[in-house]
Amino acid sequence: MAAVKSMTGCIALAVLHCISLSTAANPAAQAPLGPAITHYDFDVTVGKRSPDCFEKDVILVNGEYHKQIEVTQGNILEVTVYNDLPSTWPLVSEGISVHWHGFSMNGAEWYDGVGYLAQCPIQAGTNFTYRFQVNEQPGTYFWHGHAGNEKVDGFTGPLIVRPAGPEPFTYDEERILFLSDNYHTSATALTFPLNRPFDAKKQTNETGGWDWVAVPQAITLNSHGFYGDCELLQGTNTAIPPKCNVTTQWVPPGRSKFLPYAAGTNPGCKRENVTVEAGKTYRIRMINAGSLAYLSVCFADHNVTIVAADAYPTNPLTVPCVDINLGQRYDVLLKADKPVGNYWLSALVVNATRTGSPAGYGVLRYAGANASALPSDPILQPESVPAWTFGTVSKITLPKEYLDASTLPKGTVLPLNQSSLAPPNATKTLLVNLTQPLLPNGQLRWALNNVATFGTPSCLPTLNLLRNDPGLMARDAQRTRVGDMPADLAAKQMGNDLNVPMYLEDGSPSPAMPMAGQDFMPLQKGDVVDVILQNLPANANGGDYRPGVGANRTAQEQHPFHMHGHHFWVLAYGLGTFNEAANTSSFNTANPPFRDSFTIFKNGWTAIRFKADNPGVWILHCHTDWHLFMGQKMYFATSPELAQPPPADLPTCPNTCMYNFGPFSPSFVRAKWGSTGYST
Ligand code: C2O
Repeated sequence: MAAVKSMTGCIALAVLHCISLSTAANPAAQAPLGPAITHYDFDVTVGKRSPDCFEKDVILVNGEYHKQIEVTQGNILEVTVYNDLPSTWPLVSEGISVHWHGFSMNGAEWYDGVGYLAQCPIQAGTNFTYRFQVNEQPGTYFWHGHAGNEKVDGFTGPLIVRPAGPEPFTYDEERILFLSDNYHTSATALTFPLNRPFDAKKQTNETGGWDWVAVPQAITLNSHGFYGDCELLQGTNTAIPPKCNVTTQWVPPGRSKFLPYAAGTNPGCKRENVTVEAGKTYRIRMINAGSLAYLSVCFADHNVTIVAADAYPTNPLTVPCVDINLGQRYDVLLKADKPVGNYWLSALVVNATRTGSPAGYGVLRYAGANASALPSDPILQPESVPAWTFGTVSKITLPKEYLDASTLPKGTVLPLNQSSLAPPNATKTLLVNLTQPLLPNGQLRWALNNVATFGTPSCLPTLNLLRNDPGLMARDAQRTRVGDMPADLAAKQMGNDLNVPMYLEDGSPSPAMPMAGQDFMPLQKGDVVDVILQNLPANANGGDYRPGVGANRTAQEQHPFHMHGHHFWVLAYGLGTFNEAANTSSFNTANPPFRDSFTIFKNGWTAIRFKADNPGVWILHCHTDWHLFMGQKMYFATSPELAQPPPADLPTCPNTCMYNFGPFSPSFVRAKWGSTGYST
């Protein structure tokens, strides 16, 4: 009996409210003293760093940029977060929170870290302790801020869960490859303009206009990179220089696009070296913690073998490059079996997803190779590597031993009442249409079934509201579920009105016109839900109210989706429009991967299945931070009345709750934060 998440008992520990513990695999069941505690303090401040050779303000934890933490399966993880950010640091969220990306948090619903969903953000000058038992599959995860876009400013880092027993893979040493993208502007300054009117007719001097964040200035590997690397390499490498278009990248006034570090004012930047010794096998824990860049990661002259996806083991798949989307993790094995030397390690934006993006380059450096030389082999050009096909993605599958209770490896974490990772039959199906509507107020949003969900609905966390009053969803949905967005919505939501427009999935028709509100799917504990996410043209579902204009907005793009509170089976990917009769038979119910982050391809659909075994309110969202902010999310509310009581020390909400679809006009921003330099 290996299952950890068996929910057979609920043991109240002195320091915890109540968490589910298994009787077999968890030491707490036998040890009277309870599980060991792994404690971290996070002192959160702002400081200057130069991740890509351009110095800027970033968010630090104990002075560290991208702080790494780890915990052993079964331990209690305790992280005390002190918000010591200066009050002039603008946050759309009025505070910070921490999410443990990929953790199912079963029985620990109050500590999932989504601002205003289960907790109010931790306000400046206060602290909060996350405290929960890590009943998670051992493997590779990351933590990140989840109240606003503070992750983009650097509030994120690797999170490794060590097994209580031996590792399931064989290797000599491990390395982390923490991938990100880097902007030279603060996340909040990039975020504000996303709320300003897209429709030129709605723009005034006061509102300003919508402005897209555009491609990042650099891709970083283990928090290091060079902006303008493509051009720099011309001088250091005889190979053809990469073709990323530095001239289209934003560079602050007075800085060179071409030699960012020449002035010597940006200490600390370097190209990342991943060091290996000839003959050894390395487990590389790849994490994409970026905000926009879907990456193809290639090790020159070396293939790698994928052995785990989002912490759960997979059948080994050997590839020359790993396409890793935002929020995803891959554990790969790399054999250092080539001649001692230096080899390029390239992180290219996946072909045809973001034209003009920079690439990130590091070096795979063998011990004994010339430490000051760059690799001599040709460097990979941006957009020169073919993207993974459906054929490749669908080769990421569960190993046989995880599909049968009798062979299930010890320590495997399972959904409720499952004896293996073989998927149960679905009891419910939800079709979710993805569009990019333009709302009547001129805002450009991303919508799921015509609802663009904003993030700060009220001054009480949503989980609290629904746990106290599960009827709230249905009552509010009655009022608002069909029809146009109320004209005074924005004004109303700036206040403390709890009557937010809600839309209930399952049974009620999608709003005829796109609206801003909150999109919920009520579930009962034990439901098994298929969700089919369908990418549609921007203007589908009446998505642009300007007759004759909106018809032209047909674009689509890929989206990296992530769901909280669960791992799920990824059953299928398809192109075009999902057709139940034709496509359901293509679902892989034999050995689908069990993961927490997946891609919805351009002009395609993806089908996932999950077991609603975790009472609470769980968000499903695009992990492109900018899309999340623009509404691309919905909530699964699983038997909220069964949720634990909230911890007594849960942060209190700010006096005035900010509606994050609010205007954030330049004058609003200046009035709130002053002229901090982030107010544009
Ligand atoms: Cu890493 Cu809600 O996300």
